[in-house]
Amino acid sequence: MSPSMIPEVEEENKKYQKGVKHLCDNGLTKVPTKYILPEPDRPIFRKSDKIKPKENLKLPVIDFAELLGPNRPRVLQTLANACETYGFFQVVNHGIEGDISKNMIDVCKRFFELPYVERSKYMSSDMSAPVRYGTSFNQNKDNVFCWRDFLKLFSHPLPDYLPHWPSSPSDFRGLAATYAKETRHLFHMIVRAILESLDRTDAGFAAGESPENLCGGGDEAVEELEEGSQLVVVNCYPPCPEPELTLGMPPHSDYGFLTLLLQDDVEGLQILSGDDWLTVDPIPGSFVVNVGDHLEIFSNGRYKSVLHRVLVNSCKPRISVASLHSFPTNSTVKPWPKIVDDRSNPPRYLGTDFTTFLRYISSCEPKWKNFLESRKIHHKF
Ligand code: OGA
Ligand code: NI
Repeated sequence: MSPSMIPEVEEENKKYQKGVKHLCDNGLTKVPTKYILPEPDRPIFRKSDKIKPKENLKLPVIDFAELLGPNRPRVLQTLANACETYGFFQVVNHGIEGDISKNMIDVCKRFFELPYVERSKYMSSDMSAPVRYGTSFNQNKDNVFCWRDFLKLFSHPLPDYLPHWPSSPSDFRGLAATYAKETRHLFHMIVRAILESLDRTDAGFAAGESPENLCGGGDEAVEELEEGSQLVVVNCYPPCPEPELTLGMPPHSDYGFLTLLLQDDVEGLQILSGDDWLTVDPIPGSFVVNVGDHLEIFSNGRYKSVLHRVLVNSCKPRISVASLHSFPTNSTVKPWPKIVDDRSNPPRYLGTDFTTFLRYISSCEPKWKNFLESRKIHHKF
C-alpha cells in the first residue's frame, strides 16, 4: 500500500480541498506545511544555484508555415529530432489567431477570480465528470500538495460536454469552445506530421519522399486519433510567498498522445534534460507541444514522454491551458504496427487502455513515469 492511502492523509487532505486561490485570497505570508516538499524534491532557484547559472531552454521551434510548404521534409526531420531528444517542441505560425488564445487566457483568469462558491460548483471527485474543478495533482492522495488549482473540461464530442461547462463568466463557454475547436484542428495537423516523421527513414527524409497513404489519410491510426479524446486543463498558479519550498506541479509525464500547452507570459515550466531541470523560455503566442505516454508507446520508444514540472513565483499569478489529446478512450494503445517487426524492432510496450490506467492510478500516487514503466516489455537478448 502506498503511504498516500493512509486514512489520516485523506482526512488531512480534506482541510485543503478549497485550493490555493482560496488560501491566498484569505491572506498568507508563509507556505502552509501541507505544501512544503522534502528538501531533495524542492526546486533550486537560479540565484542560489551553487553550481552554474543555467540559461533558459530554447526548445526546437517548428514553423507551421514552413511545415506546410516545400520545406516539409526538413521540418519533419527537426520535429523527429525534437521528439527524440527533448520530447518537447514549440509551434509558431500555427494559424490560431492571437485573439483566440488571448481571450482563452483572459476568460480563464476571470473564472479563477470568481468567488469560491461559484468555482466550487464544479468540484467533483469523479474522474469522468464532464467538468472538474480541483486543486493539487491528486487531491485525495497527495502527501504534499502542490501550488495549483485546476479546471478540467472534457471537450470531445463538444456538443455532449459544452452544456456542462461553467456558465459564469457569461462568455466562458463561447470562448473556451472556440479554443477547444481550434486546438483540435491544430492537433490533427501535428499528428499527421508526427506520423509522417515516424514512418520516414533517414534516407527518405533526405530524398524528400512522401510516405504513401498518410498525407491523404487512410491509415487506421490517423483516423482513430482524429476521432480521439480531448481534455482541456486550465492550470492556475497563484503567487506563492515561498516559491522555493513547493512546486506548481510535481514531476510527471503526460498521459495521452500529445499535449498542446498555451502559457501566459510568465515562465514556470521546466523539463528534465539529463540531470538538469531546464526552464522553458515562453515564446508569446506559441504552443509548447509535448510527447505523452501514448506516443512513446505508439512510437515504440523512439519519441520520449519526458518528465516535466512547474515552478511558482512570488510576484505574478500564472495561467496555462493544456489541451490533452489521445486515442478514443475505448481504444487499445500499442506500438504502431507499421513500424514494428519481430526481428529488427520488436514491440517494447504492452498494449494499454483507459481502464488499465484508471486501475493503476487509483492504486498509487500518479507521479513520475511509473505508469509507462509498468507497460514496458524488457527483451532479453
Ligand atoms: C500539465 C502541465 C505545465 C504548465 O498540465 O500537464 O504539465 O506549465 N502543465 O502548466
Ligand atoms: Ni504535464
